[in-house]
Amino acid sequence: IPVDPFDLTIFGGTGDLARRKILPGLYRRFRSGQMPEDSRIIGAARSDLDDNQYRDEVRAALKEFVDRDRLDDASLEGFLDLIRYVSIDAMGDAGWKELKAHVRPDHISAFYFSVAPSLFGPLAERLHAYGMADQSTRIVVEKPFGRDLESARELNRTLAEHFDETQIYRIDHYLGKETVQNLMALRFGNVLFEPLWNSQYVDHIQITVAETVGVGGRGGYYDRSGAMRDMVQNHLMQLLCLIAMEPPSQFDPDAVRDEKLKAIRALDPVKPDSIVRGQYTGKGSTPSYLEDVEAEESNTESFIALKVNISNWRWAGTPIYLRTGKRLKARQSEIAVVFKDAPHSIFGAEAGRHRNILTIRLQPNEGMTLGVTIKEPGPGGMRLIDVPLDMTFAEALGAENDQVTDAYERLVMDVIRGNQTLFMRGDEVEAAWAWTDPIIESWDSTDRKPFPYEPGSSGPEESAMMLHRENRRWREIRE
Ligand code: BG6
Repeated sequence: IPVDPFDLTIFGGTGDLARRKILPGLYRRFRSGQMPEDSRIIGAARSDLDDNQYRDEVRAALKEFVDRDRLDDASLEGFLDLIRYVSIDAMGDAGWKELKAHVRPDHISAFYFSVAPSLFGPLAERLHAYGMADQSTRIVVEKPFGRDLESARELNRTLAEHFDETQIYRIDHYLGKETVQNLMALRFGNVLFEPLWNSQYVDHIQITVAETVGVGGRGGYYDRSGAMRDMVQNHLMQLLCLIAMEPPSQFDPDAVRDEKLKAIRALDPVKPDSIVRGQYTGKGSTPSYLEDVEAEESNTESFIALKVNISNWRWAGTPIYLRTGKRLKARQSEIAVVFKDAPHSIFGAEAGRHRNILTIRLQPNEGMTLGVTIKEPGPGGMRLIDVPLDMTFAEALGAENDQVTDAYERLVMDVIRGNQTLFMRGDEVEAAWAWTDPIIESWDSTDRKPFPYEPGSSGPEESAMMLHRENRRWREIRE
């Protein structure tokens, strides 16, 4: 759906996120004709640049981060025409009048805070002081949204001094991923799955976000965060919510977020023996975690696996296993819903144990697979095998359809449309921290080191053992 013309200001417009994600996302929307020509994108940052110098930076970023077959001169130049730049002092007064001159009162205006959280307050204050904030203004904030419950509350309070909750868009880019939204379509658009979606039929659920990259280059941030803060409190938690929540009465921002909040609040505290933390070692020319973060010693985890229980009628007794880590065997993110065994096998023990597993792949090859049990073809008698019913979205829908949209481009357009469904509400973020805090505190109070694991592996052996003890197995991370 096309949007109305808008003025989008990106604070931190010369930063890494703007270059890698926000600007390329906007460009792709422009190229597919979904951005009115009368819109403006205003980069705002400290550097002293003029419009053309900033356009050169944007051009270079697009050339680096947009697929070559989507870069044509006409679209590129057309997009650059929308770009302006203002050199601004977030803590002072320089640049604010110039910015105001660019932001047109009769257009939708949104301000993307792609900056350190310590600047949220000063930016919000100045938007008000300089008359750029009214009821229709939207602000977009990035993670990390705090590093514990207290700091998240403080950020929420600061933003609430200047903006209403309906104006605040807290981004978790996992919610913008195609498959993540498809999870809701799958659950609530089909009659097939929901009757089975509970502890009576589901043995357990696995959520895996495996990455091959290390933390080199952002060691300073990462070593203070670790996988729990960097990935579990936000991205994996959001996936868990969408898998576990009750059906909202309608697909509307507060109806969806109310249900997610209830799911988070139903999470049990996690027992120490249901957590495995790991840290990657070096191997050959691949640096170790400690080398990547340039530290002699660190107890920060680059891998974590944990077993989560949800105390409600739907899920009591069905654990959800979460796992994420850096420098693993492959980049693979998926959710696997592992159904229970059939109550009785008429085919006898030699037919083996066969289970239906529904796998929802976030990356790579976004899609879904339902494992079903069939008879092995041929005359060999009644032997059973599992075969996948496989749907890869790009194939099923036609890649030329442009259906598999990048998360950021979708989310930024949702901000312009004023649709908060895929953004986190303040209470949701706080509830997620309230669950995370005691887990992290329990590590800080002991001096327990994470288990070492080799780069290119599936994480520490102890993670496999955690499931093994319960007669379960992680799904393989495939190269
Ligand atoms: C970010 C984390 O939020 O998400 C990174 O800070 C992580 O550490 C990234 O690599 C993963 O995102 P994606 O979309 O590549 O799975």
